[in-house]
Amino acid sequence: MTSLAKLRTRLELSRAKHRSLSGHARMARRIASLVPFYEYDQEHFFRSDDPPEDIAKRRRAGFMRLAELYRERFEQTRRWTQDAKEGISDLQFTDAYRVPFQYSRFVREHLGAGAFVQSSSGVNLVDLDGNSLFDLTGSYGVNLFGYDFYKRCIERGSARVGELGPVLGSYHPVVAYNVKRLREISGLDEVSFHMSGTEAIMQAVRLARYHTNRPRLVRFCGAYHGWWGDVQPGVGSPEQARDTYTLTDMSENSLRVLRRRRDIACVLVNPVQALHPNAAAPADSALVDSGRGAGFDRARYVDWLKRLRAVCDERHIVLILDEVLVGFRLALGGAQEYFGIRADIVAYGKTLGGGLPIGVLCGRRELMKRYRDDRPADVCFARGTFNSHPYVMGAMHEFLQQIETSAIRDLYVNLDAVWSERADRLNRRLQGEGLPVQVVNLSSIWTICYTQPSRYNWMFQYYLRAEGLALSWIGTGRIIFSLNYAERDFDAVADRFVAAAKAMGQDGWWWSNPSTTNKSIRRHILREIIAQRLLPNRR
Ligand SMILES: Cc1ncc(COP(=O)(O)O)c(C=O)c1O
Repeated sequence: MTSLAKLRTRLELSRAKHRSLSGHARMARRIASLVPFYEYDQEHFFRSDDPPEDIAKRRRAGFMRLAELYRERFEQTRRWTQDAKEGISDLQFTDAYRVPFQYSRFVREHLGAGAFVQSSSGVNLVDLDGNSLFDLTGSYGVNLFGYDFYKRCIERGSARVGELGPVLGSYHPVVAYNVKRLREISGLDEVSFHMSGTEAIMQAVRLARYHTNRPRLVRFCGAYHGWWGDVQPGVGSPEQARDTYTLTDMSENSLRVLRRRRDIACVLVNPVQALHPNAAAPADSALVDSGRGAGFDRARYVDWLKRLRAVCDERHIVLILDEVLVGFRLALGGAQEYFGIRADIVAYGKTLGGGLPIGVLCGRRELMKRYRDDRPADVCFARGTFNSHPYVMGAMHEFLQQIETSAIRDLYVNLDAVWSERADRLNRRLQGEGLPVQVVNLSSIWTICYTQPSRYNWMFQYYLRAEGLALSWIGTGRIIFSLNYAERDFDAVADRFVAAAKAMGQDGWWWSNPSTTNKSIRRHILREIIAQRLLPNRR
């Protein structure tokens, strides 16, 4: 390549990067490493947006009332969590990152809700204090049909493979059925089993590199594909993902890069991004203002996927559709069916395991092959002690059988219309009450957006929990409903949701100075960060 051509491809790559920090992995990591810790003392905790004194007092009173309620209602659950926390790294992490760090310690001290639960049934969870909570976590998306469904899958699946037991390295006959069904569902030739979505994606990328003999993978800004370093090149991983290009989602500039470069092995697409293109999973720990945006435009996304497919065909780039989260949730034939697209490799996981851990790849024969007939020493190795574990395969067998029944198939009739109507109904109620909260949905996956600038939206998760609604640790950014939510259950959730928002409003958290904007909030925080770097321990 001439140096001019090199410069042009370089410039095109720069132009295809999303302008946010998530689009610039190295810079994001560098900046993240510069952010100093500081926190608000009790006085400032309630006053970080300079409210009038009576608002600060209302917030404090509301917070303390909530703290008292948490102490009483979640006593055992909190005690267990506190005792276990010292030994569970994951718990320490998730607990620390539920809210922006400036507020975190005070919130943890008073509103720690507890991580332990003892039972599930219907759409409810019961904690160690006997509180019944509506489950809005969806168990990270695994819970598509309700926990009782998965209990049955595990029970029946275990019975089916029980005689063989945990024999590894050879297959129980249920595997043959699973493979047959997965080939039908995916429309692809071959299947491989892994232990998690992360591992399935690792293998998909490895195969793409092996068969194309190209090093680079393309992911789109904000998309999660598991926690392997190559697909998580920014904040969160200390590894330099030198072979990863993070490009702007739904952008012509990105297609141009794919069309021009010759080093790209594969493109990874996570269809949940259709709800919030170019933004990461919307965790409340990053909810410093009301800038969280979302909106799902199916026709636009379909158009984007079609154009992406065409470029991949043109350049022989492997298109990997990561359906680990959305697979089976949008349609029985998965995101391929829902968006009318054919991928070269599809990754499934989560719900497909029938409640047990799983990652699956389905792919075109020539891409799934792990050796070369003409060069026997050149192989693409992938194993895993627990791959095709009989109990997982048994539960998957049940899952795949059950989704053939009319009881399950009926759930998919008008599925989007059902969930969008529910979202609209809730939004109308919120609007009618003058509350600055709205929900946006991609079928049964919802995200909560806030309609006026505020520094305290992350408090909403605690009001929701007080009303008996359980969220995952990332908070109000991702609600995942199971499809067994009946109208009655949903109405109860909606009532509680509105009650929580009203209580939060009455406690003054959404007071806002008319001159405040999301931008002014972010600028204010930036000033605090700079001041903290220059004059540590000011507060
Ligand atoms: C789209 C997507 N891909 C991959 C993964 C990783 O799956 P696992 O957590 O099973 O490793 C996830 C997990 O949330 C996911 O949502």
